[in-house]
Amino acid sequence: MAMYTLGPTTRHDILKHWSPYVTSTLIVDLYGDHERNQIVRTLHAPPGPKGHLLGDNLREYAKDPLGFLSRCAREYGDIVQLRFAGQTFYLLSHPDLIEYVLVENNRNFTKTRILRRNGRLLGEGLLTSQGEFWRRQRRLAQPAFHRKRVAAYGEVMAAFAERSLEGWQDGQTIDVHEEMMRLTLEIVAKCLFDADVGAEAKDVGRAMKVALEDFSSQRRLIRIPKSIPTPHNVRFERAARRLDAIVHTIIEERRKNDEDRGDLLSMLVLAEDESGERMTDKQLKDEVMTLFLAGHETTANTLAWTFWLLSLNVEAEAKLAEELERVLGGRAPTLADLPRLPYVERVIKESMRLYPPAWVMGREAVGECEVGGYRMPTGSTALMSQWVVHRDPRYHHDPQRFDPDRWAAGYEKELPRFAYFPFGGGPRQCIGASFAMTEARLVLAAVTQRFRMELAPRHRVEPYASITLRPKEGIRMILAERSRGG
Ligand code: HEM
Repeated sequence: MAMYTLGPTTRHDILKHWSPYVTSTLIVDLYGDHERNQIVRTLHAPPGPKGHLLGDNLREYAKDPLGFLSRCAREYGDIVQLRFAGQTFYLLSHPDLIEYVLVENNRNFTKTRILRRNGRLLGEGLLTSQGEFWRRQRRLAQPAFHRKRVAAYGEVMAAFAERSLEGWQDGQTIDVHEEMMRLTLEIVAKCLFDADVGAEAKDVGRAMKVALEDFSSQRRLIRIPKSIPTPHNVRFERAARRLDAIVHTIIEERRKNDEDRGDLLSMLVLAEDESGERMTDKQLKDEVMTLFLAGHETTANTLAWTFWLLSLNVEAEAKLAEELERVLGGRAPTLADLPRLPYVERVIKESMRLYPPAWVMGREAVGECEVGGYRMPTGSTALMSQWVVHRDPRYHHDPQRFDPDRWAAGYEKELPRFAYFPFGGGPRQCIGASFAMTEARLVLAAVTQRFRMELAPRHRVEPYASITLRPKEGIRMILAERSRGG
């Protein structure tokens, strides 16, 4: 065949210069059937829903992000092409593909523009920064999250949980999401910055709500520049200023005397780079704000979803109460008790499987690459959704069922690494994962030991998928104080 005279044609050259029709014939001759399948797939885009205006899927996504992504994965498979506001997205729903992006080829991906665009709040903090700067900052913060340090935080977590419960009464109706937001905020501020923010907790909660609206899918439909004073932008700016002021006070208090208190804030304030320079005010503010926000809302959501799930699953709730009574016998839980409370841990893991606080993650390709046999162009974005994968029956049997016992010994070992990834993975894995797990277990144990909860009548619990997954209108619960042994 004349085509053999082309010389050492590489696969890359073929893809770059030849039309699909010519190449598919050529490739069969040159490479054989197996290679052909691989190469021909790279010539086509992955399958995906048609979309509305100019093939865009944003409207459907905005209406119901969780349902839309789940349907896409179910109908089109492990790799689905989507178009949002003229940009190309690939929804990846196979653990191996997710591992490829987050771990194996992580250097080819950066955090998404959507996240980085929100510089107003998070600036260049750990969550959003990139490259060498991020690496340095992560190294700097890492010791504060060492296992031994987290063990020391355990005391604060347990004490604050107990203090919170002092205000709760039998028969009272509470919004457990709001309560958990306040508690986790106080805990993170005390542990990492030795600051008491009890008085500011309400303001922070309100500001968080407005700030998170900014990331909601609906807002992505029409993105109005921050400089235009729409009612939302005005509310957002006001919320951001309030958060700025709170964080500023925390930093200023510490700067008044530079003594090393051994916490994360001291580490950040006193850290010097190779040339002896300390962090600028702006860098310090960005890091503190990031940890302040990332370090409480996610854990609060986990706890709130957990109490709601337990109220719907009386058997699991009874089993949890029985374990607590047997191991603690009515005394307040401490860090040392956690290894003897395996069911507490299973409940948290199962809650994060069904209601993962970080429900979707994005990564933008900085260079062209191949994912699952398809070409992923520079500038396109990989979407990986914990909500979708955690409910995939290929990995989690009877996935809609709340079943903490599925996490019995051995279950996790059998799972592909990215069939369950509430804390992400690879180099950008959550720095606060063990902090969060310790906190969630201690708070769950302390609360459940004292109270049973029942959903308030006519209160509808609905997930709101912004950057995190939170209950849209909170979770209103009626408290029933447990009698000893009950
Ligand atoms: C249940 C609770 C939590 C969940 C589900 C969670 C989830 C996550 C996820 C999925 C990421 C990775 C995001 C990505 O790669 O794009 C992340 C990153 C991060 N998380 Fe968490 N998180 C939790 C609690 C915490 C806590 C308690 C802290 C701090 C005290 C924290 C601080 C951070 C920071 C600073 C990052 C950025 C790390 C980096 O890029 O180097 N998180 N978290």
